Amino acid sequence: MLRVEDLSAFYDKAQILRGINLKVDRGEVVAVLGPNGAGKTTLLRSICGLVRTKGSIVFAGKEISNLKPHERIRLGISICPEGRRLFPNMTVEDNLKVGALLEECDDRLRYVYSLFPKLKERRNQLVKTMSGGEQQMVAIGRALMSNPKLILLDEPSMGLAPIVVEKIAKALKRIKEDLGISILIVEQNISLAFEVADRAYVLVKGEIVKEGSIEEMQDLEKKYFEI
Ligand SMILES: Nc1ncnc2c1ncn2[C@@H]1O[C@H](COP(=O)(O)OP(=O)(O)O)[C@@H](O)[C@H]1O
Ligand SMILES: [Mg+2]
Repeated sequence: MLRVEDLSAFYDKAQILRGINLKVDRGEVVAVLGPNGAGKTTLLRSICGLVRTKGSIVFAGKEISNLKPHERIRLGISICPEGRRLFPNMTVEDNLKVGALLEECDDRLRYVYSLFPKLKERRNQLVKTMSGGEQQMVAIGRALMSNPKLILLDEPSMGLAPIVVEKIAKALKRIKEDLGISILIVEQNISLAFEVADRAYVLVKGEIVKEGSIEEMQDLEKKYFEI
């Protein structure tokens, strides 16, 4: 579904990512784990076309590295950005609708509400009055509204208590089962990734230093995250 080959990314002259190779198969959940500043957000922004890159990005069989961000979205890539980036003074439902293609809106809204019944109850509430976990549900819901083939999740567990992270993990598993879409999660919080991901990569200082099954990542915390 997604294949990134020898990808480098730059802000002006500063090179942030070096020779990244990774793939996400259809229906697969893949995690990219890395400490703060490793380049996780830059990686997702590169896939969306928001950063200058070199190298190849193939999505659904098509080279997309020269396409504009909106063209990539139209092909079926959706992002749930770091820090959620919701509209705080709009209602839950209006925030969700922002992510939708008009003709599919009602169906998608129904699905998001079945996934997160609490959002249905609170659909007319302003987003700024919701808890962090509920806001993350809105952000994930919004990313689903365009009926994507691939969703990119930027640290969905950020700032959330473990019990809320658990809820988000359950929702991601259900999305995988119900929709069979591909999911790429970047995280510092290893526990969420361990719960939902099929495979993982470790990103440190702009380079992939390890890849493998989730089981192979058990000693990760000591090795890469406490330095
Ligand atoms: N807009 C930007 N301009 C210049 N440098 C940036 C910009 N955004 C991020 N960086 C730098 O790129 C590196 C990786 O950042 P980022 O991708 O946000 O890491 P992570 O998401 O893993 O914390 C950091 O050194 C950061 O300072
Ligand atoms: Mg980040």
